[in-house]
Amino acid sequence: MSTAEVSHDRTCRICGGDLDVFLDLGRQPLSDAFVTREGVDDEYFFDLVVARCLGCLMVQLVDEVPRERMFHADYPYRSSGSSVMRGHFEDVARRMLETELTGDDPFVVEIGSNDGVMLRTIAEAGVRHLGVDPSSGVAQSAEQAGVRILADFFEEARAKEIRQADGPADVIFAANTFCHIPYVDSVLAGVRELLSDTGVFVFEDPYIGDILEKGSFDQIYDEHFYFFGASSVTRMAQRHGLELVDVERLPVHGGEVRYTLAREGAREVSRAVEDLLAEEERRRMHTSEPYEAFAQHVHDLRVQLRKVLEDLRATGARVVGYGATAKSATINNFCDITTDLVSVVYDTTPEKQGRLTPGKHLPVEAMSGFREDHATHVLLYAWNHEAEIRANERAFEERGGKWITFFPEVRIS
Ligand code: SAH
Ligand code: TMP
Ligand code: ZN
Repeated sequence: MSTAEVSHDRTCRICGGDLDVFLDLGRQPLSDAFVTREGVDDEYFFDLVVARCLGCLMVQLVDEVPRERMFHADYPYRSSGSSVMRGHFEDVARRMLETELTGDDPFVVEIGSNDGVMLRTIAEAGVRHLGVDPSSGVAQSAEQAGVRILADFFEEARAKEIRQADGPADVIFAANTFCHIPYVDSVLAGVRELLSDTGVFVFEDPYIGDILEKGSFDQIYDEHFYFFGASSVTRMAQRHGLELVDVERLPVHGGEVRYTLAREGAREVSRAVEDLLAEEERRRMHTSEPYEAFAQHVHDLRVQLRKVLEDLRATGARVVGYGATAKSATINNFCDITTDLVSVVYDTTPEKQGRLTPGKHLPVEAMSGFREDHATHVLLYAWNHEAEIRANERAFEERGGKWITFFPEVRIS
């Protein structure tokens, strides 16, 4: 399929500065486009190339996939698919209710509310809220959970309409969503428009520092356009009259940071911001060094992973995949993993089951099948949920089954 509609740009999407490309992951399909057998000849591909801006330090993709191709009625990702993540977002909501949302008739807006995993707790508490998410299938699930939804892309024009209809927001929250949005200018203009004078914009996304450290290159895929760090977010906020006032490292999804932005001068800047900025400086994240080392690590991981899988194939082992994650599209397509290496991928999401993984067309089957499968080895694509999954799959280990994980190195355990 043609990629004519993909925009290629060698300048920074945020500041117009020059980009320094450090990794080319090749032709990739859309990570969440699970295909039917009839659809295999009609897949959409783009070039997955990652760069660092020499001006504002933001790590970003070079190619931008049109947003409607990724986020639409059939978008299959359901945030509530992990019990750990359900607990995480319940905590986020409770903390928000106890801190930022204690005033008179508070109002919170979530960008990328998905199936209502966070806002359902806010709705249950009877607090005014609005979830904005263009993927109408997931948005419908949120509505069924009692969450008020606007099924659209958040951007400046939507923010103005929300402000007019509902008044200013005390909190704007976004998890695993802001990094999906190339058009930062419009979103941050919208945030300024919508936020109350003392309100905060809180977002949590995969942390570039963790990605570099682990070599977790599967965080790089169509939907993850930016890879934030304290240094780049500081600069991005400044361009829009906002200020990074707090950061918090999070263990979820393989390592994230929760950033808090406020209007410039509205809040005191926490010590944690200074500390993380200093750490990034110490790690020389403003130079090409860690990115070049990362690219080398990624190429080594590809060689290691292929070797392990090829050796297992030669011994007649049966390897299956666990979790048809969006991330696994990058692993499968960059490492050329085909059904002779991984026979099937098990996943709990009904929308993915009975379909084929993007690009490499591994069949996705319901998790119930895993319990009857005589797999000797499981490639843990959903490695970010390892603790939860291994606790649920003790029986597999008890019968001698082995897990294959791949960050920071390929391991069989
Ligand atoms: N917050 C959830 C969902 C993350 S998936 C979680 O952390 O698990 C990313 C979500 O962002 C998807 O549901 C997608 O539809 C939504 N999204 C993408 N672009 C958006 C935009 N411009 N405005 C609002 N939501 C957006
Ligand atoms: P994520 O890593 O983007 O959150 O995606 C996780 C995928 O793995 C999602 O498709 C659901 C699936 N999954 C399982 O199949 N079993 C599990 O126990 C968990 C936690 C996730
Ligand atoms: Zn830049």
